[in-house]
Amino acid sequence: MTTASPVRILLVEDNPGDVVLIEETLAQRHGAFALESVERLSAALARLSIGGIQVVLLDLTLPDSDGLATFTTMHTQVPDVPIVVLTGLSDESLAVSTVRDGAQDYLVKGHVDADLLGRTISYAIERHQVRRQLKSSEQQLRAALEQVRNLNQDLERRVAERTSELAAAYKELEAFTYSVSHDLRAPLRHVSGFAQTLAEEMGSHLSPTSRDYLERIQQGAVQMGVMVDDLLKLARLGRQPLNPRLTSLTEIVGAVIAELESEIAGRPVEWQIRELSAVACDPGLLGVVFTNLLSNAVKYTRPRDVAVIEVGETTRDGERAFFVRDNGVGFDMRYADKLFGVFQRLHRTEDFEGTGVGLATVQRIIHKHGGRIWAEAMPDRGAAFYFTLNA
Ligand SMILES: Nc1ncnc2c1ncn2[C@@H]1O[C@H](COP(=O)(O)OP(=O)(O)OP(=O)(O)O)[C@@H](O)[C@H]1O
Ligand SMILES: [Mg+2]
Repeated sequence: MTTASPVRILLVEDNPGDVVLIEETLAQRHGAFALESVERLSAALARLSIGGIQVVLLDLTLPDSDGLATFTTMHTQVPDVPIVVLTGLSDESLAVSTVRDGAQDYLVKGHVDADLLGRTISYAIERHQVRRQLKSSEQQLRAALEQVRNLNQDLERRVAERTSELAAAYKELEAFTYSVSHDLRAPLRHVSGFAQTLAEEMGSHLSPTSRDYLERIQQGAVQMGVMVDDLLKLARLGRQPLNPRLTSLTEIVGAVIAELESEIAGRPVEWQIRELSAVACDPGLLGVVFTNLLSNAVKYTRPRDVAVIEVGETTRDGERAFFVRDNGVGFDMRYADKLFGVFQRLHRTEDFEGTGVGLATVQRIIHKHGGRIWAEAMPDRGAAFYFTLNA
């Protein structure tokens, strides 16, 4: 005996004999089922609209509807109630079509015993529930997917917005740097010009201290002139479009070394130049990169009896990286990020001349190529500069 409440069935059947047959068959299951029956489709729809029916047993041939339309009409109007179609032997294929269109199952009249009927009804209800759950999970999944898609679009839009804001700010900053450094040149020329004139006209009347002051003004003006020029070059670099083509870096390095000869001025330098890959890059700008890195290597190895300067290629984190290494004075890695800032220097001008724009320029060029640059060094143990290129 089952303690659960009976399954409520609506039988739609106009043949009284068949109704009795079903009634009697179900009665053998002792209260597991509560049967109501109607003869017409219209009556069935009216009953279903009230609710409470868990499964419909549907004969397709009714006084007010016939064939597949009987099933389709009911299924469209009450999609949430499972339907088991009742059919005669002769139109079993019709019943099969209803299953294809969404009926839970079909039974052939006259071939139904209590077991089959009970099982068919239970399975129909169960399958229908599973299908409904699946459908609602699918809907939830679709909604979640839609949400992810929206979030993604939103994110992309925001990234694009920020990128263009950043690009605009960067451009503005560059324009500012350019115009400031450009406009500083004229007053600077005045300072050094008039200091020069003053020295020429009044030099002999001035005390040694005053002459020293005047000299310092001139030196200051010259130094500032170099800084302004470097800044201007840096700003121009930012505006210059990238002109990449397949380039032999070995050739570039050779040309740069030849140009550095005058700076080396007979000092013993041991060059260890490895063959470098040909890469897509802007050859002019890579010339600027190697000029800065190699002239730094030459400069910061000056205290060495023999400078050893190496140029090569290696792999870092799966990426091809080029490097320039020297056995010079090196630096403390604590300040390694500072090196690439404009006017940032780790050595005193008295020891090593320079304005501190070289590495800022190099970094800008490498970033323009989609690469990165970093340094590895130790005080008094030399320095190495690595960079990658992605252009
Ligand atoms: N090979 C190196 N060995 C040791 N220190 C270095 C080396 N290269 C750069 N540095 C440090 O990094 C600082 C920044 O280098 P950067 O090339 O930008 O400027 P700079 O050489 O001083 O001046 P310039 O603008 O003339 O190049 C240097 O002042 C120096 O302290
Ligand atoms: Mg330099």
